[in-house]
Amino acid sequence: MKMSQMFTKTSKNNPADEVSKNAQLLIRAGFVHKEMAGVYDFLPLGKNVLDKIVQIIREEMNKIGGVEMSLTALQNPETWQATNRWDDEVMDVWFKTKLSNGREFGLAPTHEEPITKLMRNFISSYKDLPSYPYQFQTKFRAELRSKSGLMRGREFLMKDLYSFSKDKEQHDEFYEEISKAYLRIFDRLGLGGYTFKTFASGGSFAKFSHEFQTISPVGEDTIYVSHEKGIAINQEVYNDEVLAELGVKKEDLVEEKAVEVGNIFTLGYKFSEALGLKFIDSDEKEKLVFMGSYGIGPSRVMGLIAEHFADDKGLVWPENIAPAKIYLMQIGEDAKELAEEVYNKLTNQGIEVIYDDRNTGAGQKFADSDLMGIPYRLTISSRAIKQGRFELVTRKNGEIEELTIEDIYNKFMK
Ligand SMILES: Nc1ncnc2c1ncn2[C@@H]1O[C@H](COP(=O)(O)OP(=O)(O)OP(=O)(O)O)[C@@H](O)[C@H]1O
Ligand SMILES: [Mg+2]
Repeated sequence: MKMSQMFTKTSKNNPADEVSKNAQLLIRAGFVHKEMAGVYDFLPLGKNVLDKIVQIIREEMNKIGGVEMSLTALQNPETWQATNRWDDEVMDVWFKTKLSNGREFGLAPTHEEPITKLMRNFISSYKDLPSYPYQFQTKFRAELRSKSGLMRGREFLMKDLYSFSKDKEQHDEFYEEISKAYLRIFDRLGLGGYTFKTFASGGSFAKFSHEFQTISPVGEDTIYVSHEKGIAINQEVYNDEVLAELGVKKEDLVEEKAVEVGNIFTLGYKFSEALGLKFIDSDEKEKLVFMGSYGIGPSRVMGLIAEHFADDKGLVWPENIAPAKIYLMQIGEDAKELAEEVYNKLTNQGIEVIYDDRNTGAGQKFADSDLMGIPYRLTISSRAIKQGRFELVTRKNGEIEELTIEDIYNKFMK
């Protein structure tokens, strides 16, 4: 990526109408644009980060047997009437719309109903089970409060996977697998030490559901963390009975504010019963499919990471999801040739580089590189060329190395 080709610009000032830190920084650094409260466009740098988060989740879902698809946003009311969730009293986040002739549609806030109905076409025998379709899809929710930037969108991206199993036993096995996959995902996203599998209320078919909660001062949830066991308990189920069941003592738990980055839920027969999703088992009896649903909000995760690692100079992306590994800046006309050469060589090796080839002052380039939060900044200046050593600065800790071009190639081209 060359900065001279990038249409976005950075800004020194926080947008006046934005109160959340993640959105302020992401807007200033040119990663997102605000359409209105809770509705954000992803600009090239932001799209790049979001795609990387999505790719990590995708890899982990595929590893455990997930198969990717994409369902429609526009919804048929009839499908939702089967579970009573078309009713605004039951599901209070609907965006509904209609044709000029009065025919109604909804914009999907989640996809349990349509996926259950759709799977009736494909599941008829125990041999068709289990099945784990998933998608990355835009959800719409009429969230009343939308002051947390990307963390609470009215239009946002969700990874939703649905499990279809022949019985609870088959379901439970997958539930454990995906739970481990979630922990791997949050580890790879750099949130490992801060994200806890959290016991939450379960519904009719399981005592608990599990949320994946990341500790954050701006979190809307309260959780009680057992660092010893690496788990947490949501305030909503925090009581003596649950503590005893999980074998944890009150005095070992730390109360924290946290953001729900994902959750896994045993749905049981709720949707298969309402929508008639059945199969013939090996004993030739007709049975209902046992279901689960598993969400992660990639755009919420992006907002959280932006906010979590930021410092007074701007964003600080973990290497796995940074829009580029290196911010290459050139100072002085006579440094252009070498900078261009280094850019081409690194880029040809598949290393992502943002090359600041603009005719702006060095100060602006330094500030932008810090604001954008690129892990390494490499400066090619005429003075450095004379000395044969180039400054490489690590964004997260400010560490400075003076390296030859050879050293730099060796460091990044493994
Ligand atoms: N308004 C939103 N904006 C961005 N991401 C969201 C939003 N609502 C939910 N998510 C993400 O989608 C995942 C699955 O959605 P789910 O319906 O389970 O969330 P939820 O229980 O409504 O979350 P919350 O309690 O925060 O409203 C959540 O774990 C979260 O990561
Ligand atoms: Mg919600």
